Amino acid sequence: MSVTRREFNKTALLTGGAIALGGGSSLAGTEDVLRRAIPSSGEEIPIVGLGTNRYGVDTSDAARAPLRAALNRFRELGGTVIDTAPSYRTSESVLGDLIADLGIRDDLFVATKSDQSGGDAVAGQMQESLGKLKTKSFDLMQVHNLRGWQDAFPVMRKWKAEGRIRYIGITTSNAQQYADLEKIMQHEDLDFVQLNYSLEQREAAERLLPLAADRGMAVMVNRAFGGGRIFDAVGDSPVPDWAGEFDCSSWAQFLLKYALSHPATTVAIPGMTKTKHVEDNMMAARGRLPDAEERRQMEAFYDAL
Ligand SMILES: NC(=O)c1ccc[n+]([C@@H]2O[C@H](COP(=O)([O-])OP(=O)(O)OC[C@H]3O[C@@H](n4cnc5c(N)ncnc54)[C@H](OP(=O)(O)O)[C@@H]3O)[C@@H](O)[C@H]2O)c1
Repeated sequence: MSVTRREFNKTALLTGGAIALGGGSSLAGTEDVLRRAIPSSGEEIPIVGLGTNRYGVDTSDAARAPLRAALNRFRELGGTVIDTAPSYRTSESVLGDLIADLGIRDDLFVATKSDQSGGDAVAGQMQESLGKLKTKSFDLMQVHNLRGWQDAFPVMRKWKAEGRIRYIGITTSNAQQYADLEKIMQHEDLDFVQLNYSLEQREAAERLLPLAADRGMAVMVNRAFGGGRIFDAVGDSPVPDWAGEFDCSSWAQFLLKYALSHPATTVAIPGMTKTKHVEDNMMAARGRLPDAEERRQMEAFYDAL
């Protein structure tokens, strides 16, 4: 039976096992995941991560079991990057419990945030996050929505020097903060910047994404689905056939592959609480990404919907 690359990937994903192609090449469930390098270190991370602003649930099994299944599937499919924040209600504690339960801390790249002002408050909040996440160190610590950045960066740099933070960054999801973020990016040495970028909201491509590339900062993309709103906007429209040319068979993959095909982006962190969404979205980390001409075609198609 002849198998296209897309069908092959889907089969590999659903079985999670190693499958051999006719030519003798062999791909395990995670080996074909696309990775990009963090510019400040060269460390490569998978291009699709997990956003957890909806992981702030209670302690009941009913609330936690679906999240445990989604997190486990994410890891099985080669995902490592997880983004959370103290302000996502109980998300850090829920993740700490689930990660410990699954025994996967060492496999993950855990990112959280600080939203305090004043050095002591920043340090205190980070100490609490270590406890909630049941970890000795953060892979990435970000200033949340620019809050208190002047006080936060010196504390974060001290923790980095002590080995308790590996990378430092800053986040926004609001175009009204772009001008301030641009100024910060121009004079602060940061490993990461996290921002919103989607077919619906492309402003970050005007100045921030090129600046991140110039300054050697990794870009973590949030809200590639506009918080889920874009699925309502596309409604029942089918994904165009030509999207198959870049191994894309769903709207979620279309949106993620658009964000991830900008040359400055490093990783996208779609929010996903359902296993079926994890399986769909992790396919966006496989196969080919659209080229510049295909990106223009995607924009024109989306604008005409
Ligand atoms: N300023 C900041 O620092 C900032 C701001 C916003 C977000 N963030 C981070 O970025 C992450 C992503 O943002 P977000 O979660 O607000 O928005 P998003 O990723 O644009 O959208 C998430 C929504 O899309 C749904 N979804 C996911 N995969 C899907 C699929 N394959 N098909 C259909 N629906 C799908 C999710 O449903 P289910 O949950 O049901 O799976 C959820 O309702 C957050 O979780 C957070 O970690 C950071």
